[in-house]
Amino acid sequence: MSSKSVPTWLVTGGAGFIGANFVLQQRRAGRARIVNLDKLTYAGNLASLAELQGDEGHIFVKGDIGDPGVVGDLLNRYRPDAVINFAAESHVDRSILGPAVFVQTNVVGAFNLLECARQHWESLGARERAAFRFLHVSTDEVYGALGPQDAAFSEETAYAPNSPYAASKAAADHFTRAYYHTYGLPTLTTNCSNNYGPYQYPEKLIPLMILNAMEGKPLPVYGDGLQVRDWLFVEDHCEAIALVLERGQVGETYNIGGRSELTNLRVVQTICTLMDRWRPESPHHPHESLITNVADRPGHDRRYAIDESKISSELGWKPKESFSTGVEKTIRWYLDHQDWVQRVRSGSYGDWIESNYGQRREHRA
Ligand code: NAD
Ligand code: TYD
Repeated sequence: MSSKSVPTWLVTGGAGFIGANFVLQQRRAGRARIVNLDKLTYAGNLASLAELQGDEGHIFVKGDIGDPGVVGDLLNRYRPDAVINFAAESHVDRSILGPAVFVQTNVVGAFNLLECARQHWESLGARERAAFRFLHVSTDEVYGALGPQDAAFSEETAYAPNSPYAASKAAADHFTRAYYHTYGLPTLTTNCSNNYGPYQYPEKLIPLMILNAMEGKPLPVYGDGLQVRDWLFVEDHCEAIALVLERGQVGETYNIGGRSELTNLRVVQTICTLMDRWRPESPHHPHESLITNVADRPGHDRRYAIDESKISSELGWKPKESFSTGVEKTIRWYLDHQDWVQRVRSGSYGDWIESNYGQRREHRA
């Protein structure tokens, strides 16, 4: 495909879960030439981008968003029309056991990216400056926790981050806002709910439960399992990001949700039911018998919910997948991609499982 007629985007974190889905989706649609900057931490996997081998419209660069030399050089060399920042440390449990790297990447790294983008943007001609965009991908966790009857998070909800992860993302959101208000950098911020789908590192709830169920391992539900999350299929999220980039109003934030509020226990039970149906030969029937209540996460937020009326009324976006269609696609993907699973679990995965779950003994809720 010729990349002359399409814009160039600098995507960071494009070897991670959501970033890789975004890069694959946008390259398949031929919407942009993509320069993909990723540090390849434990969560970044080139195996997720294997489909793009030989694609001249995808340029992968291993590097850190916190390195001004690397980021400045990429901006000078490729002169992107937009920067889309997915790169982050993204797992709440890891932020509890080791918060420092979250400050380094999610705050200092995000700040560096904004500062390099500002310098680049200020050097552009008037037309390019007007067209340039900096899109920062954030989370609903910056808004804190909701009670059962509380209204869902809107873009006006006050920030109240409760975990080191959420605090680090909130700091980056504030810097993004400040760069728009102070310097006029054309920023956009998106705050989304829990994503699930293909290519998610199996430390997060849904892929962990699918793989443990398949292998007959305990399914570790934190506390009573009645915490509520809103589940967003990753491809719906990626389409929303592309839409905000194209049509969002600069300086604004957009909440993105999947219209699928469920307790963790219900999510795990749904996975068990589908595994019972699709793996009739499995010795682990019924898979629900593998559910094990373990010690709760410290400071565990009880409920998240997203009011996505702004993106839906202003930009016409809505999710295509319901939780039941999305989770079926997701389970099938993991069952069919054991090679990918083996590759991403071959590094430090075992160490993480030991440090997070070794100390959480089985626990009656
Ligand atoms: P992920 O952990 O799967 O991937 C993160 C990627 O960033 C990895 O490829 C990693 O190698 C890369 N990275 C980490 N530090 C880096 C650095 N210093 N420089 C360059 N690259 C670096 O995360 P994800 O689930 O794909 O999340 C992507 C973004 O979406 C994050 O900003 C996250 O906060 C946000 N988000 C995720 C969810 C979710 O449910 N997964 C929900 C809301 C918001
Ligand atoms: P997670 O996927 O880590 O996302 P987040 O903490 O960002 O919402 O967890 C989703 C929910 O599942 C959260 O309430 C914690 C819970 N959980 C478990 O009960 N057991 C687990 O082993 C994991 C990883 C998460």
